[in-house]
Amino acid sequence: MNLRAVKGMNDILPDEIGRWHRLERVFRATVKLYRYEEVRPPLVEPTALFVRQIGEVTDIVEKEMYSFTHHGDDLTLRPEGTAGVARAYVEHTVHAKEPVSRWYYLGPMFRGERPAKGRYRQFYQAGCEVFGDPGPAIDAEMIDMLVKLMGDLGITKVSANINTLGAAGTRAKYRDALVAYLMPLRASLGEDSQRRLERNPLRILDSKDPRDAEIIAGAPSILDVLDEDDRQHFDSLRSYLDKLRTPYVVDARLVRGFDYYTRTLFELRAEGAELGSQSAVGGGGRYDRMVKELGGPDVPGIGFALGLERLLLSMPASAGPARKWVLLAPMGDAATAEALAIAKSLRGYGVAADVDGRGSSLKSMLRRANAAGATYCIVVGDAELAKGTVQVKDLNGHSQEDLSRTDVARILADRIRSS
Ligand code: HAM
Repeated sequence: MNLRAVKGMNDILPDEIGRWHRLERVFRATVKLYRYEEVRPPLVEPTALFVRQIGEVTDIVEKEMYSFTHHGDDLTLRPEGTAGVARAYVEHTVHAKEPVSRWYYLGPMFRGERPAKGRYRQFYQAGCEVFGDPGPAIDAEMIDMLVKLMGDLGITKVSANINTLGAAGTRAKYRDALVAYLMPLRASLGEDSQRRLERNPLRILDSKDPRDAEIIAGAPSILDVLDEDDRQHFDSLRSYLDKLRTPYVVDARLVRGFDYYTRTLFELRAEGAELGSQSAVGGGGRYDRMVKELGGPDVPGIGFALGLERLLLSMPASAGPARKWVLLAPMGDAATAEALAIAKSLRGYGVAADVDGRGSSLKSMLRRANAAGATYCIVVGDAELAKGTVQVKDLNGHSQEDLSRTDVARILADRIRSS
């Protein structure tokens, strides 16, 4: 049998995990400074949650969800985090306990997209959601936090694109203006866009079909039809970003692939060949109707998610210092018991240790210690044990010495700590 991982789903092996840990550590440290707390909703939710919140006429709901029926329930592997987090917020009546909640999450998402570099079917997101704050100060703070985070990760060539979709009034007006512009050009649009013209015309702005590009470039701008409230919200967002000296680009064509957005929208795009066409490393926006639509009170929301694989592709390769550790090489049964005890006391001092239990030759164990980058190898043999000592090989300094069996863990721990 030749079983392989599912297409578009990747193994992350131990030799890659150091970079993942670093990324996750920087993300957590940053968002905690802004007082976000972690939430862990399930990976599986009722299908209806995503269909209603993301929107029926979106790529994700139309063709990318991993949906299945189990004991009569229609379920879906989460394609994104926001809907599930908002469902949890409503289900646990969190608004009654605190007026503003700042939550973050980190974990796998599932979308049946065509796999490519930077585009997978299982991928990881780190995201934040804020409930109870209508903005625009939080909108600006969130975008500024993301730009700072990119800098902390060493991703310097990145742009923050922002737009607004307005609230219901603006969107109805814009929809009409867009349909009036597109109707006469209908026959020249791609099939998907023709279909969307009736049900979801804003999505046409996000079309990648080359037949649509020129038409989209000439479309009316939403910024020309904003209601007064929406204009003020957007202007204040921009003035806060200016005050924070956050670089950004206004992109009136930015729409993103979810129907739940209202007002502020943003996307982070990294430059550079590593990502090819998958340049969006993160994105988000405001979703002021979602909590109410899920049966909660009228509480506004805003959030973003970052794609961790894409960030890793954009981050500079930095090895970071390797952690020092000790390999124990026992020669025989009594020696193995002694080696287990020494390893246990090394770990008690906070030093990583690993006992080679293969029963192989000293030569083979030393080869493994060198190849795996051990700092010291402790050889435990019958002759040494009879004298109450062990032999310590310094694999970097290429020296060796006998140390007392009872002191060896403390001595090596001291050396490792002060080196
Ligand atoms: P999104 O733009 O769909 O937004 O995803 C956020 C990020 O996840 C993207 O910018 C990208 O880096 C990464 N991503 C998306 N799809 C894939 C894929 N197939 N393979 C690899 N990476 C991918 C959301 O998911 C919203 N929930 C963000 C949000 C939070 N809005 C409000 N709150």
